[in-house]
Amino acid sequence: MPKPPPFVGSDFTVEEFTEIGAILSAAGGMIVEHYNAACIKRRIALRIRELQLPGAVPYLALLRADADEVQRLSALLSLHVSMFYRDPTTFAALRSLLAERSQARPQRWWSAGCAGGEEPYTLAFLADRRPVLGSQVEIVASDVSLEILDKARSGVFNATHLSKVSAVEQARHFSVVGRDYQINARFRTKVQFFQHDLLDAAPYPAADLILCRYVLIYFNAAEQEEVLTRFAAALPAGGLLVLGRTETLRDRAGFFAPLNAQERIYQRI
Ligand SMILES: C[S@@+](CC[C@H](N)C(=O)[O-])C[C@H]1O[C@@H](n2cnc3c(N)ncnc32)[C@H](O)[C@@H]1O
Repeated sequence: MPKPPPFVGSDFTVEEFTEIGAILSAAGGMIVEHYNAACIKRRIALRIRELQLPGAVPYLALLRADADEVQRLSALLSLHVSMFYRDPTTFAALRSLLAERSQARPQRWWSAGCAGGEEPYTLAFLADRRPVLGSQVEIVASDVSLEILDKARSGVFNATHLSKVSAVEQARHFSVVGRDYQINARFRTKVQFFQHDLLDAAPYPAADLILCRYVLIYFNAAEQEEVLTRFAAALPAGGLLVLGRTETLRDRAGFFAPLNAQERIYQRI
């Protein structure tokens, strides 16, 4: 018998695609309706073929049974999605924690997997608001994608990325450029962007605070544990690690004490 053709995006029935959208949004993932349906279908079909499944029916069965696959799909569909103050309560908690700490020596904060730069620029806002504690802050930001790093360096964002920025900070930190917003040069020069693959064997830079949010979800369990082990090596005792709200320390919890478990803020032991 000839092999059936590979599953492609246009093979989804309306019901199948609707159910996948409902599963993703119930898990706090992307709202599928906000995006181009053909493009999303194509990417889900790619995932189905990657898993060597024959079509949408067995993939839906997998999604219903396996929360990790729902997270993985959500990550694959929202590769570079980010925004300023993503999860505002996390940044509020982080700001309070940082304000309590007085450091005698310069600090390095690292946004690992920084996408378009929203996260490290948010750190630059936090550094700007810090009471003077006698220490300088250097902010570095990395991503595996050169293309997204170019975008990050340009500092130009559309309004949806700024929806959690207060009106005061919008006016103070951005200039309007056509329909977009460009972050002021004072902050653009504050963040140093560099290409870095977290799965590469090269050593990680040392840092006092590491944000690695909504990046581990792209990796399998062994890769996540390897990355977490290397973060532990990059941080001094007392250094901070912040993960995304859907991410965990897996079995690397022994390296870290939770400072705010709900916000996924941990301290290196
Ligand atoms: C969903 S974005 C997260 C952005 C930001 N951290 C946030 O929470 O808003 C995930 C980013 O991780 C990056 N990424 C994926 N695999 C990576 C890797 N192996 N090393 C470094 N960055 C990676 C992607 O290019 C993407 O920009």
